[in-house]
Amino acid sequence: MPLYKSVNIDKDTRLLIWKNTESLEEFFNHIKLKDSCSLRVDGMKSELHKKGFLGVRMLLQEIGYTDFDLFYDSDGKPHLTDGMNISITHSYAFSAIIVSKNDIGIDMELQREKVITIADKFIEPEFNYLDPSHLTDYMKQLIVIWGVKEAVYKMISRAGLSFKQNIYVFPFELTDKHGMTSVNYEDINESYPFYFEEVEDFTLVYCLGSKTKL
Ligand SMILES: CC(C)(COP(=O)(O)OP(=O)(O)OC[C@H]1O[C@@H](n2cnc3c(N)ncnc32)[C@H](O)[C@@H]1OP(=O)(O)O)[C@@H](O)C(=O)NCCC(=O)NCCS
Repeated sequence: MPLYKSVNIDKDTRLLIWKNTESLEEFFNHIKLKDSCSLRVDGMKSELHKKGFLGVRMLLQEIGYTDFDLFYDSDGKPHLTDGMNISITHSYAFSAIIVSKNDIGIDMELQREKVITIADKFIEPEFNYLDPSHLTDYMKQLIVIWGVKEAVYKMISRAGLSFKQNIYVFPFELTDKHGMTSVNYEDINESYPFYFEEVEDFTLVYCLGSKTKL
């Protein structure tokens, strides 16, 4: 039952990562799901997807919640019944959540060169500072930018928000492990800090938003 990481980012925010190495049977021995979530799991074709979903429930239990404390709005954004903010990601063998009194978003992406071929779908002005001649660093930077935009999207969750046109990632160094991103969309004109780290062959990214009242 491997809790991979559990860390307080600040006094209001906790990050947790689970490595999904257990069998489905082991998961089900430890987790009780709402009927709606049982139906979702039953409908998932891939075992990896099921484990990613169940790994999130293991993480919830680590911090005193259960599946019954989590619900989704009509856009698919998760919420906790006590008013705390939550963001969720799962990728292959990992699941991760971030829980905070503040707005937050999280994403985890496998580091793979395929990102180079799809970069023009989510990047435009950032190409001005990226250097494709150093292939590994270029790929890792693209993964960070992609992760930042996914995390920001999850934090804001507004229909029509474009990765390319509305979310910008300012120049950053891979060694810095943090940077700034801005959103310009409808009434939003804000900058947010983001943080990233490597977890085995993956890049984990999270962004922190403004304070929300509880
Ligand atoms: C919804 C989306 C953010 C999910 O991200 P992903 O990288 O595919 O998958 P992840 O595993 O990281 O995240 C999935 C989790 O995001 C959360 N999520 C889904 N929709 C969400 C929303 N509107 N707002 C916030 N969180 C959301 C859910 O918790 C989901 O997991 P769960 O349903 O098992 O609880 C993504 O698919 C998406 O729609 N992105 C925006 C579309 C876009 O412009 N894409 C361009 C890519 S080039």
